[in-house]
Amino acid sequence: GAPVEVDISDVKPGEMKVVEWRGKPVWIMRRTPEQMASLQKNDDKVADPHSDKSYQMPMPEYCKNEARSRAEHKDVLVTVGICTHLGCSPSSRFAEGPQPNLPDDWHGGFLCPCHGSTFDLAGRVFKNKPAPLNLDIPPYMFLSDNKILIG
Ligand code: FES
Repeated sequence: GAPVEVDISDVKPGEMKVVEWRGKPVWIMRRTPEQMASLQKNDDKVADPHSDKSYQMPMPEYCKNEARSRAEHKDVLVTVGICTHLGCSPSSRFAEGPQPNLPDDWHGGFLCPCHGSTFDLAGRVFKNKPAPLNLDIPPYMFLSDNKILIG
């Protein structure tokens, strides 16, 4: 598949855009400072905080921090929107706090409707969920502050 160029100038903090790459949905989310700060609070609740397990797509070093993004664009999350359990499509649950099927101390993230796996705003799977791995990170690079090349 050809690389996909994406303009993210219209993605405001707290918003997400979905594009297709190699037939897969890729989520591009611009996280707010509050959302970024919440990631650290999840470090002991997620199964693989530094993405050290073996992934289908090799996880680049810059995706092994809790932000799982390039150092100079930490606020932007780029991830494959396919659950690593059986391939359902998780839905965004960006609101904080108690909601159906989510823990009371929820800081925003994604919920898979099929078997209840939950992922934080860095695509990291929470412990004791059916999904074995964090969401995949596709190869990508920033062409400029608002242009990303995926693939
Ligand atoms: Fe997502 Fe099973 S496919 S939890």
